[in-house]
Amino acid sequence: MTAGQLTGTARLPRPSSGRRRTGQPVTLLPGSACSLLTTAMLIEQFDAKSDDGRLAACHRISVSGHAEDDPNVPEVTWRRFQAWWRYGFASEPIETWLATDDDRHPLGCYLLWLPERENRQNAIVIALNVARDRRRQGIGRTLAGHAAGRAEQAGRSLLMSDSRIGAPGTAFAQACGALAGIQEVRRVLRVDAALPARVAGLHASAEERAAGYSLRSWSGRTPADLLGQASALHNAMEDAPHDASFEPLRWDADRLGQEEEQDIEAGMRINSVAALADDSGEMAALTQVYIADPDQADWAYQGITAVTRPHRGHRLGMLVKTAMLQRLSELEPEVRAIETGNAAANQYMIAVNEQLGFQVSDTFQNWEIEVAAALKLAE
Ligand SMILES: CC(C)(COP(=O)(O)OP(=O)(O)OC[C@H]1O[C@@H](n2cnc3c(N)ncnc32)[C@H](O)[C@@H]1OP(=O)(O)O)[C@@H](O)C(=O)NCCC(=O)NCCS
Repeated sequence: MTAGQLTGTARLPRPSSGRRRTGQPVTLLPGSACSLLTTAMLIEQFDAKSDDGRLAACHRISVSGHAEDDPNVPEVTWRRFQAWWRYGFASEPIETWLATDDDRHPLGCYLLWLPERENRQNAIVIALNVARDRRRQGIGRTLAGHAAGRAEQAGRSLLMSDSRIGAPGTAFAQACGALAGIQEVRRVLRVDAALPARVAGLHASAEERAAGYSLRSWSGRTPADLLGQASALHNAMEDAPHDASFEPLRWDADRLGQEEEQDIEAGMRINSVAALADDSGEMAALTQVYIADPDQADWAYQGITAVTRPHRGHRLGMLVKTAMLQRLSELEPEVRAIETGNAAANQYMIAVNEQLGFQVSDTFQNWEIEVAAALKLAE
């Protein structure tokens, strides 16, 4: 599942509180636990914060399938992968599991989010990967069934995930009997020679409609005086289309501050632009763009863009996004592409993105399956 769908915003994977559950290793034998398996398989939980060896094995598994799983964007770098698998989302508990064969060769892995503050009925498979050369042997199905077992133990009734349409993950989810939820579309803006003039024109016309608002921009942590207001903007994202079974996350200053802290610790660079109402000082709009890995500074990720309800209709979305692009050209001159994700039904945001020049690269499908049904996958 992509970050945008999980959180109702396009927020990136977030560091967590680091709470860890220990699980018993499970050995599955061919012809017993899963009749498709051709080899015995040991599925073990590991601590992604301290076990670099196993985490690196998961990274290798993940990138092995890049050409068919997600070919339109760069491979996930080791640093981004670490941030993702160590911290998960929104300071919430995650579990990381690695499957190996008789000779301890890595076969597959998964990252499971067991939300505690919201979505207590759900378990979310953030990633489930099988090594490219070990696919179509029943390993994916067995891992999905294993994840369902962990979800059941945590008292969850629904298992959720997502896949790129056209990739093996979509055929797999269908074969597992999962039900389709909403779709999210990924768009990419190429930073080319024509962009600055287009952005300047769009910014000027947005400014005409946005009298009475002033911009405030910052890099890194959100200043303390704005953190409470910024969390209200994150909560405004609950209006964005999302699956009925997924409860939008509720942000407050502490939760957001902790997230930013962990993102920065993980090496991310965060750029923010807000629009504040001149009369009240209230934050009306916010946009954030991340450099997730300084070693891959040519590729940036759009985080939240939101406008609070009372302030909609003043082109503030376009105003803050164009100001952000101008800011990035100064502060992050290496950026050549910006990636964003929106629910397919999010007309307003998509219209803004298309005017800016974002182009569709991929569509992702959300999936959900009852835990009781998914448990059968490992039988
Ligand atoms: C999706 C993924 C986990 C499947 O792993 P796997 O070990 O090959 O899956 P299985 O062998 O258990 O396949 C189970 C069934 O899914 C379907 N399936 C899996 N891959 C498929 C493909 N490339 N084309 C068509 N059907 C496919 C088949 O029905 C298959 O049964 P069959 O081989 O008996 O026909 C693997 O391709 C992967 O790591 N993809 C990248 C990450 C991802 O998309 N994860 C899933 C998120 S929902």
